[in-house]
Amino acid sequence: MKAKIVSTASYLPEKVLSNADLEKLVDTTDEWITSRTGMKERRLAADDEFTSNMGTKAAKLAMERAGLESKDVDLILVATLTPDYMFPSTACLIQRELKAENAAAMDFQAACSGYIYGLSIAKGYIQAGMYKNIILIAAEKLSAIVDYEDRGTSILFGDGASACVISSEGSGLEIDAVTLGADGNLAEILIMPAGGVRNPASKETVENRDHYIKMEGREVFKHAVRRMEAASQKCVEISGVDEIHWLVPHQANIRIIEVLAKRFKIPMEKVFLTIHKYGNTSASSVGIALDELLNEKKIEKGENILLPAFGAGLTWGAALLTKE
Ligand code: UT7
Repeated sequence: MKAKIVSTASYLPEKVLSNADLEKLVDTTDEWITSRTGMKERRLAADDEFTSNMGTKAAKLAMERAGLESKDVDLILVATLTPDYMFPSTACLIQRELKAENAAAMDFQAACSGYIYGLSIAKGYIQAGMYKNIILIAAEKLSAIVDYEDRGTSILFGDGASACVISSEGSGLEIDAVTLGADGNLAEILIMPAGGVRNPASKETVENRDHYIKMEGREVFKHAVRRMEAASQKCVEISGVDEIHWLVPHQANIRIIEVLAKRFKIPMEKVFLTIHKYGNTSASSVGIALDELLNEKKIEKGENILLPAFGAGLTWGAALLTKE
């Protein structure tokens, strides 16, 4: 049995945060941000717009595109590191909005690798014959946990959501192979230290700004390149393909993406980028880019798309999709 992505969708909030806006918030310049990251703008959710709202919008559009009715959804998977609540899950909030009363619903957390981990979970359920129609949603309101006094992280992140319908029937992109990895030894190099049970919210955690993203950028960069390259290599080997037609990577830094493209000999015109418009939207980033690729370019039958990702945990992974 094959697991196929039969539709994709994304949702980006309207408000734009430009490099010029960031110059007013922290000690940085448009020139530094552009040359070091490739980012120009990112989107910010409205005050009354949350991860579940953005995820619902993307999911509804993906269902419409797939012609999937609410009653036929078997499972709702949500990848996010910015859930509306610690509990209940954002997946349950989205299930309510979708009126998908026959669906099971759960969140899972693999940070920026969330979309790839989600493809693997969905592929496993479908190939085991347990479910027919799964909606994978990756949604983030990162602006709620970004420290707009820290120039090392505030320039990087944006909000947004992506979704796809993964089914055993219909046609689209077959999920050929997925490889995943993790290294918890490096958990602290990209972390939000407070708000969980180890450091519950207190006056001190708020004063220390511990409810915001903390990152050792240079260390993360180094591991990102190494791990995404290895995961991609393994994925290509498992799938047995001899050519990669499109690279749709996690949009964390243009320099990381350029290294990957070079290593796999993929010309930059075959690398799909949204980083200049949306920055790093964590779990959503690969899904948003995949959706825009499918809307803007014609993918021919038999063409392969490689999706590598990397994030906090550390986690990483790669997926190889083939157009049917
Ligand atoms: O999505 C999860 C995975 N995340 C990633 O993959 C992110 C990986 N890391 C990165 O993309 C990069 O490390 C950053 C973009 C975060 C930083 O770029 P970098 O080239 O690694 O810079 P750096 O941290 O080594 O800092 C170089 C210099 C420092 O100044 P000194 O010590 O050389 O005087 C920083 O203080 O740049 C300074 N700097 C800035 N200057 C202007 C750091 N941030 C800024 C800034 N504007 N926003």
